[in-house]
Amino acid sequence: MYVCNCNGVTRAEVDEAITAGALAPEQVLAHHGCEPCCGQCLPEIAEGITCGGMGKARSLVAAE
Ligand code: FES
Repeated sequence: MYVCNCNGVTRAEVDEAITAGALAPEQVLAHHGCEPCCGQCLPEIAEGITCGGMGKARSLVAAE
């Protein structure tokens, strides 16, 4: 499942970047050689960072 449609970054790839130490959404995208385009994914990624992983983000779990 893509979190960032502009760059094709998946939830697993976001988690990989978080595990590697990314502390901001821009760092998550940069980890995969990308940068924000529309910015729509940034709040979701920020929540994933805050929660310690995309699978633990409450709003994202509830949306599935
Ligand atoms: S969806 Fe991530 S920058 Fe557009």
